[in-house]
Order: sequence, then C-alpha cells, then structure tokens
Amino acid sequence: MERYRRASQILLRYVSCETRSLSKRPCGSSIAGQSRIQEQFIREYNTKLRNVLPHSMPRVCTRTVQGSRIFCLDRPCGIQGRSYSSAATYAQRNPSYSTLNSSDITYFRSILGDKNVVQDEDRLSAANTDWMRKYKGSSQLLLLPKTTEEVSKILFYCNSRRLAVVPQGGNTGLVGGSVPVFNEVIINMASMDKIISLDKVNGILTCEAGCILENLNNYLTSEGFIMPLDLGAKGSCQIGGNVSTNAGGLRFIRYGSLHGNILGLEVVLANGTVLDMLGTLRKDNTGYDLKHLFIGSEGSLGIVTKVSILTPAKLLSTNLAFLACNDYLSCQKLLFEAKRELGEVLSAFEFMDSHAIDLVLGHLEGLRNPLPTSSYKFYVLIETTGSDESYDKAKLEAFLLHSMECALVSDGVIAQDISQASTFWRIREGISEASVKLGAVYKYDLSLPVEKLYDIVEEMSQRLGDVAKVVGYGHLGDGNLHLNILTAEYSDDILAKIEPFVYEWTSMHRGSISAEHGLGLMKADKIHYSKSSETVQLMASIKKLLDPNCILNPYKVLPQSVL
Ligand code: FAD
Ligand code: MLT
Ligand code: ZN
Repeated sequence: MERYRRASQILLRYVSCETRSLSKRPCGSSIAGQSRIQEQFIREYNTKLRNVLPHSMPRVCTRTVQGSRIFCLDRPCGIQGRSYSSAATYAQRNPSYSTLNSSDITYFRSILGDKNVVQDEDRLSAANTDWMRKYKGSSQLLLLPKTTEEVSKILFYCNSRRLAVVPQGGNTGLVGGSVPVFNEVIINMASMDKIISLDKVNGILTCEAGCILENLNNYLTSEGFIMPLDLGAKGSCQIGGNVSTNAGGLRFIRYGSLHGNILGLEVVLANGTVLDMLGTLRKDNTGYDLKHLFIGSEGSLGIVTKVSILTPAKLLSTNLAFLACNDYLSCQKLLFEAKRELGEVLSAFEFMDSHAIDLVLGHLEGLRNPLPTSSYKFYVLIETTGSDESYDKAKLEAFLLHSMECALVSDGVIAQDISQASTFWRIREGISEASVKLGAVYKYDLSLPVEKLYDIVEEMSQRLGDVAKVVGYGHLGDGNLHLNILTAEYSDDILAKIEPFVYEWTSMHRGSISAEHGLGLMKADKIHYSKSSETVQLMASIKKLLDPNCILNPYKVLPQSVL
C-alpha cells in the first residue's frame, strides 16, 4: 500500500510538470512529448487504478463619529494604534438601560459565588475586545455562570433592572457581536462545558453550550464520531457560539448547515424563562420548530445553554490534495468536476488566491508553499473522507490525474501523512491570523453565485489600486467568498471606497452580505442589502416579543431604527 501511495504521488507531481508544458492539451488526448518509459508508467498506473475502481475510473483609542462613541482598536502589542469606523459600526447608547451599582454586584455574587463575578481589569479588557482587536467595549462586569439555573437568574435580574447583556462564547466572532458596545454586562459561557451524553447508536451528542469545539471533536473521535463542523477557531470557539452564529466552516460542503445538524437546544430567554427544546429526534413536526430561531440569532433572542447535535461517524480514510490552478475558471470547473467525480467522498473544497498564500507564508512561522516551483494565481484544497482507504485514495488520484489532463489543475500534491495534511490545512486556516498581522483588515464574508464570486475581488482591487491588498479565499464549494482588504491603517477614505460598493454589488448579484459570520455590530444596519423590509420588520417583531426590554446583545443584528 505504501509503495502504491508513493508511486501515485510521484506520478501526480510528474504529470503536473508535463501538464504545465502542455496546458492547451484537450482533455482526454494522449500525453504527448513523454518518454516511452513515462508513458509505460502512466499506462501501468491507469491499469492499476482501473483494478481498484472497476466502474467509475475517472481519468482595532476611542473615537467619535458624528457625536457618537464607537468601538476602537488598540493593539496591545503596541506596534500600531489604529481606529476603525464605518457608518454601520457606530451606535448611540440607549438611555433606557440602567448602569451597574453595588447592589447588582452583591446580587450576582450571591448567586454565582465571588470568583465567577469578575471585575479584574485585565480579564475585563480581554473580554471587552474582539479577536481582531477591532471592536472594544467598556463593560465593568463579566459573569461566569455554571448552570442553566444561574443563567436564568442572571437574565431574570438583568431584565427586571434593565441591564443590557452580551452573551459571549469563545470570543472568536469576526463581526463585533461578541463584545459590548458600551458597558453591557458580559455573560461568558466558558464554565458550562460538560458533555452530557453521547447516543452511540444514533450519533447524537448532548452537551453544554460552553464546550470548546475542538474538545468536542477530540472526545467524539475517541468514540468513533466527529463534529459536523470544523473551523480555524476550533481551539477557542464554543458550540453555543457556533450555534448562535450558525457557523459554516470547512465541513459544510459535506455535512451542511447547523440548521440541519442541531437536533435540540436549551435556551434561556431574556426574562429568565428556560425553554427546553433539547430533543434528540430526527423527525418532529409538532408545530413551529422554534430552535431554528436561535440558530444564527447571535445572542439577540436568548442564551443557548445546552445543545444536542447529530454527529457523523468518523470515517477511516482521509485524503487531502493541495492544488494550483492558473485561473478562476479552472477553479470553478474543478469544483463542478469534483462534485461529480468524487461525489460522496468529497469533504472539503477550499480556495485561496495567491495573495492569501503570500500572506500566510510571509507572516506565519514555519510554513512553506507545498508547490514551491512557481507562483500560481489560485490554490485549491480538496479533501475526501470515506470508508475504504485504497478506493478513496485511488479515486482522488484518478480525479486529479484527469483534472491535470484537462489542464484544470496546473500542479498538485497529495498529503502523504497526517503531519503534511495538517500543514496544508494550517495554510488555509492561517489566513485570518496572518491578515490581522499586517495592519488594518476590512473583512467581508459574502455568499455569491460561484461564477461571479471572484469578480468582486478583481473589481475591488482595481477600485482601490495600490492603497490596499485585496485578498480572496473561502469555501468555494459553498459559494462563500471571504474578501479581505488589507491596508497599513484604517481610514475613512478607504472605507468610503469599499462601502457601500461591496454591499451594493453583492445585493445586485443576489448574494448575501453575511454567508457565515453573522451581522453582529458591523453589519446590523446593512441587513436590508440582503433582506426585504417586510422580513426585517418581522424579525424586529420577534425580537420585541422575546426581549421587550431589548437587553440581549443590543446594537447588534438588527438596525436600531426598527426596534
Ligand atoms: P463568540 O465570538 O463569543 O460570539 C459570537 C456571537 O454569538 C455573538 O453575537 C455572541 O453574543 C453570541 N453567542 C456566543 N455564545 C452564545 C450563547 N451560548 N448563547 C447565545 N449567544 C451566544 N466562522 C465560520 O462560520 N466559519 C469559519 O470557517 C470560521 N473560521 C474562523 C477562523 C478564525 C481564525 C476565527 C478567529 C474565526 C472564524 N470564524 C468562522 C468566526 C467564529 O469563529 C465563529 O463565528 C464562531 O462560531 C464563534 O463562536 P464563539 O464561541 O467564539 O462565539
Ligand atoms: C475562514 O474561513 O477562514 C473564516 O471564516 C475566517 C475568516 O474569514 O477570517
Ligand atoms: Zn469561513
């Protein structure tokens, strides 16, 4: 098996060289210009594959904007002080909210215990600042409940006192949803991190909302299952945060949305009512399926305290290819072919442009381009996961060979072991980390028709010229572009060139201005680019019904004007 694997990789690398020199060769034509030995090798290889696959052989200082205090940026590393503003990102403090007093603190201590009522400056500073260090609140209080009952008591009290709160998970959100805008009380769910049960017959995990995604996946792996979602922030983000943002991520193409995988939720409403919807049934058509209201509501309708989730079986074989394509059309065609030829084993299809790769390789330690010979315009990661090692490997190799013959792929390499695979993934998952090292990053997360998806990157690049580096990458298999615009520092002039253009463009192409990151603070008043006014009005009615005092995550998700 090992010999076969090595041979196939050599072949892949070898064919890729040939393909570069013969890129115009029509699909399926013979590989001209090769030595006889090479031809013979390919013939033998194809015969071998046919035997394996008999039928389907494929060949972030405070800042005032228009009189309003907005969130800020202050990089603790001290390299760069920068401020960021957007028409979408300032908010006027709602004067109907109370401010904390000493009896509030006494009450919270009585229900949570002293150590779970945090007023320490350093810890508050971290909890007030988002992952990108772009949004910073000024909360004076961080609460760490351990049980649903404690969450219920906190919310009952805050609602009666009209104290605004921000539910917080791992604080890895990218739209300013997880941190206070002003002095809202932060309710962090980290202490609710127990696994409650795993139904091994049906693959259903029930756990508390504060469980870290990676911990859940590690636990499941040891039991023969996996989480149906995976993302670069897995080491910090919590399942409750994932549910509340309806996170997409790297396995979406295979296992779909959390709306499909979440079977049940326990949620605490703004007035402290505990909604037990923690079912574990696959099918349940008794009335409105209310859990869906909370999936993706970004902490604006309730606090998720428990989750039950469908977990797929852990499959035996995983293969990962790191590929280069010369143009975006080839990436699209490759996706089209991958869906057909790899079918049921396809588990990820991610793409990055050359700027994204340069960014990662230039700013993260210990990484190099797996395809060092030349720089290509696009790179694609294709992962397959299946239950038959030799079949799955052969299937991917055959697909890649065919794709090279068709000149869709210009070069490629298949990971030979777990360490190589994790390096390939590190390159893709490291883009967000690398992008915040450069200076300012204007981050957009768009859903677009795949054919149009890269046009916005090129248009934006032309629009901004030399003042910015425009980077495109994302979950191509799901039609999800991450458009990152990098500049030395934030500037209102640059922002005015980006917005509202980016939103108008997306809307014009019937895309969504938030594919998977949510609206948070950043895009709360941009929702109309993707939703009709009637829809937004209904959302506002739901918000007012469930949270009449608007204490949950104020200034986020919906425009203030509709509430
Ligand atoms: P937080 O950031 O703490 O909160 C996010 C939102 O959910 C906030 O509005 C908060 O109020 C609310 N919230 C959190 N917990 C609860 C709760 N228990 N009840 C109610 N509301 C709650 N996102 C993707 O979709 N796909 C990706 O591939 C992806 N990759 C990422 C990679 C990196 C390196 C980083 C930094 C982020 C990435 N994200 C991605 C964004 C982010 O990780 C996700 O949105 C994640 O789901 C947030 O989880 P969290 O626990 O950190 O939530
Ligand atoms: C990703 O896919 O890497 C994420 O959603 C995070 C990001 O875009 O920064
Ligand atoms: Zn993403």
